[in-house]
Amino acid sequence: MGMYFDEAPKTERKDIFNYSEQFEKLLSSLSEGRRLITIEGRRRTGKTSLLLSCLNEFGHPYVVLDGRAFSSSPQVRREEFVELLEDSLNAFLKRERRLGAKVVDALKHVQGLEPSAGTTAGISLRWGPKPRDTVNISTLLDALSEEAVKQKTTFVIALDEAQEFRKIMRYDLTSVLAHAYDYCRGVQFVVTGSEIGMLHKFLRVDDPKAPLYARAAVRVELPGLDADKAKEYLRQGFAQIRVRVADEMLEKVSQRFDGVIGWLTYCGFKAREEKELGERTVEEAARLARRMVAAEFRSFLGLYRSDRYEAIMKSLAGGSRTWAQLKKAVEAEEGMAIGQSEITKLLSNLEDAGFVAKSDDGAYAIPDPMVSEAALRGLSRTA
Ligand SMILES: Nc1ncnc2c1ncn2[C@@H]1O[C@H](COP(=O)(O)OP(=O)(O)OP(=O)(O)O)[C@@H](O)[C@H]1O
Ligand SMILES: [Mg+2]
Repeated sequence: MGMYFDEAPKTERKDIFNYSEQFEKLLSSLSEGRRLITIEGRRRTGKTSLLLSCLNEFGHPYVVLDGRAFSSSPQVRREEFVELLEDSLNAFLKRERRLGAKVVDALKHVQGLEPSAGTTAGISLRWGPKPRDTVNISTLLDALSEEAVKQKTTFVIALDEAQEFRKIMRYDLTSVLAHAYDYCRGVQFVVTGSEIGMLHKFLRVDDPKAPLYARAAVRVELPGLDADKAKEYLRQGFAQIRVRVADEMLEKVSQRFDGVIGWLTYCGFKAREEKELGERTVEEAARLARRMVAAEFRSFLGLYRSDRYEAIMKSLAGGSRTWAQLKKAVEAEEGMAIGQSEITKLLSNLEDAGFVAKSDDGAYAIPDPMVSEAALRGLSRTA
């Protein structure tokens, strides 16, 4: 039997609740050899869990580059990215013991790459101010692809939270992706993103001037759970850990945290520690959730410095608002008139980052109840 109430991303299908349609879509796209697949979903909807458990089942060797490493930095230096790439490749070589030595052998002619000394297969990547001092990532992918074909398999390269890679200075990773998409038939990419607007702005498959223009990507979307599914998740999760809970508590929790599976999991995890689900446990889970949200909002502000974002969030914490109402709210906060395009820009940045959603009727709202709770208390004050 599976175990739902574990904080870490899931790595096996048996621990994945629901989302079987998305799982099948991802798995079949990988099996069909699709070269570019995106997993899109708000924060904590289960993207990493879906990715890892599906890669495990697919069985091909994979490399995961976790963009989260850069989430709190406004900019990423090229060498920081090269370091992340080196670590991720070494993790892959370590996992793929049988293949490791062969892959290292295939890569050793890549400019800026050296097999590392020692008994286990590993590599080190060079970085320097001049192009010839730096690892050539396109050739690296060519070599990986060739080796995969030789081994009659494909290598999956997953970019988790791919929008973070847009921050790499003076380096457009998408042009490398485009090269690999066109020429590397041994390599498949899966990219995930919780800041969906940012992800699209990074990939720009619809922009004729962008490297990835017109490359077809399979899209796997992860929506939140509806109220019934959320309660069912909790019910099954508590049955797994043999904690009895009143139906009324399940109702309360699913209302408070809505269908965000990550929040429901935190709440379950706290209850698992305490061996009961009481009001106090729920409060504690919500407090932790608000703290996480506030930290994420601070990272966002590191990039988009303006007090106006918080004024908008505070207004939205009271419920959905129209564009005009939000404009008034920001103006009231500052005591002066603000241009239309400024308001539109502020809202579009909040929307791209996933803090705010615009409904079909044009009203703006905060889709995640924990973001609302944190905004109500003041996002930059919630510690
Ligand atoms: N389908 C699922 N079944 C059971 N638990 C899940 C499922 N999806 C996610 N979880 C749990 O929810 C939490 C968040 O999951 P995960 O990290 O996979 O989501 P994410 O969308 O990648 O989040 P983030 O936006 O923070 O990267 C984790 O504790 C994970 O174990
Ligand atoms: Mg994730």
